[in-house]
Formats: sequence, structure tokens, C-alpha cells
Amino acid sequence: MELRDVMLLLHPVIAVIVVYPLIGIVVNRALLVRQRRLQAATEGKSKIPPVVGQEHVKLGRALTAAVVGIVLIGLAFGIFGHILEKQVWTKTPFKVILITLFFVAAIASLTLLYKASDKMWRGIFATLSGIAIVILGCQDGVYRQTNQWYISHYYYGVVVALLMIFSLAILPDIYKDKTNRWRKVHIALNSIATLMFIAQGITGSLALLEVPLSWQETYFQKLYEQQCNIKPCTIQAPKMPNKP
Ligand code: HEM
Ligand code: HEM
Repeated sequence: MELRDVMLLLHPVIAVIVVYPLIGIVVNRALLVRQRRLQAATEGKSKIPPVVGQEHVKLGRALTAAVVGIVLIGLAFGIFGHILEKQVWTKTPFKVILITLFFVAAIASLTLLYKASDKMWRGIFATLSGIAIVILGCQDGVYRQTNQWYISHYYYGVVVALLMIFSLAILPDIYKDKTNRWRKVHIALNSIATLMFIAQGITGSLALLEVPLSWQETYFQKLYEQQCNIKPCTIQAPKMPNKP
């Protein structure tokens, strides 16, 4: 396998091995936290241990980093792939430096968001990391599928990352707020996020089937050029170099 193929696989591999198991535990603990709170309110006590709350929050915090991480890896694959293919570095090196700085800014502001406790700073760092992700998503090389945004791996991916950043930013407010307003906002937004994670599993698997490995690329190009998905076509298998 060539380096490009390893880079392509990095994102789905981390999604399958790290992100989805984390989502499973976070959602499981979320349901237990809710069940426990409702039982305590109606029956006065619950058999569910209080530790489920801490586990949800600890793993929820890790989930935010994991989701933002794989989104940045997914974007980096498209953006730097385009930069190498079109030799953007030789034409507009400043643009490449600026793009790299946006990756650094996204990671730095998320790191600072983890450390911030003041409401204003949490707002600032959450906004900065969100903006950096959105700007990176607008770069050439990212397959956005805007004409079919409702099934786009890109749009749901960015939105779900923003929702995770928002959860991290409002974390202390969930506890402070006696009216449970932030708690309700959190539940509503993350229920949507859970559905989006499921959509990401489907559209991601589809993307994996549509992006060729290096040795399949010339063949795939012909399929796309001749629009074999919508009309009949005959593809001559290209001559493959003999590899030992
Ligand atoms: C798939 C993602 C998530 C879902 C579905 C989810 C859902 C929930 C639910 C249902 C509750 C219980 C609310 C109640 O007490 O009635 C909860 C509580 C909470 N969640 Fe999440 N959540 C998710 C991710 C996150 C993340 C990423 C964070 C932080 C970065 C987080 C932080 C919290 C906090 C602080 C609480 C309050 C816990 C407590 O009362 O002990 N959640 N969440
Ligand atoms: C939490 C779940 C996931 C999120 C947030 C996410 C997000 C993203 C984002 C933002 C991109 C860059 C945009 C693009 O080029 O389409 C991307 C690319 C990609 N994702 Fe995911 N993804 C997730 C799960 C998965 C899974 C489970 C798979 C496969 C099994 C997958 C396969 C891919 C592939 C192959 C690409 C590259 C597509 C290309 O460059 O054209 N993703 N992902």
C-alpha cells in the first residue's frame, strides 16, 4: 500500500476503532444518567450508581476531541491531496502556509477550550475552533457534495463536530443552571448528533467504496469520466505495471 492509501484509511480506521465505540459508551451512560435522575425525582432514589454521570462527562470530553480529530484528518486528506496533485505549493506557497495555520488554530483553540473555565473564554475558544473547521471545510479538495447536502458526509461531519464543541463549551452551565434549560438544550442537540453519527457511518462507508486505492485510480477515473453510474459504458482495463 502506498502512503496516500494509508492516509486515506487513517480516518475511517480511527472512526471505527476509537470514535464509534466511544459514542456507544457515551450514549449508554447518557441514558443511565437520565434514567437515574428521573427515578430519583419520582421515587426518591435509584439503583443506578451516581458514577454514570462522571463517566458520561469524562468520555463525552474525550469524544469531542476524537470527533474534531477525525474531522481534521478527513479534511486534511482532501486538502493536502489537492495541494500535492495541483502543486499549489509552487504557485501560492502563502496559501499553503495559511491553511496549515488554520489546522494549528483549530487544535490550539480546542485545547484552550478544555482549559477555560470562564464563560467568556469558553465562548471565544469554542467560536474560534468552530470557525477554523468551517474555513478549512471551504478549501479546494474537500468533497462537499453541496447539491446533495442532505446526504453529504462533509456537511453532517462538520455539524456534528460543532455540536461536540458546543457540548464541551456549555459543560459547566449544565450543572449550574437550576432551571435545567442547558440540560434540555444539551439533550435535544445531542439526540440530533446521535442520528448524524449514524448517518456518518452510512455515508462514510459509501465514501470508502467510492474513493479508489492508488492502484485502482486510473480505472476509477475512466468510470467517472464516462459517467458509468448513469449510462452504459465499456471500460478497457488499463495496463497495470508489473509489481514484484
Ligand atoms: C452522543 C453524544 C451525547 C448524548 C446523546 C448526550 C446525552 C445526554 C443526556 C441524555 C444526559 C442526561 C440529561 C439528564 O440528566 O436528564 C446528558 C448529561 C450530560 N452530558 Fe451529555 N450527551 C452527549 C455528549 C456529551 C458530551 C460530548 C459532553 C461534554 C463534552 C456531555 C456533557 C454532559 C454533562 C456535563 C451532563 C450532565 C451530567 C450529570 O448530570 O451528571 N455530553 N447527556
Ligand atoms: C464520527 C464519524 C465521522 C465523521 C464526523 C466524519 C467526518 C468526515 C469529514 C469532515 C470528511 C472530509 C470531507 C470529505 O472529504 O467528505 C470525511 C472524509 C471521509 N470519511 Fe468520514 N467521518 C466519520 C466517519 C467515517 C466512517 C465510519 C467512514 C468509513 C467507514 C468514513 C470514511 C470517510 C472517507 C473515505 C473520507 C474521504 C472521502 C474523500 O476524501 O473524498 N468516515 N469524513
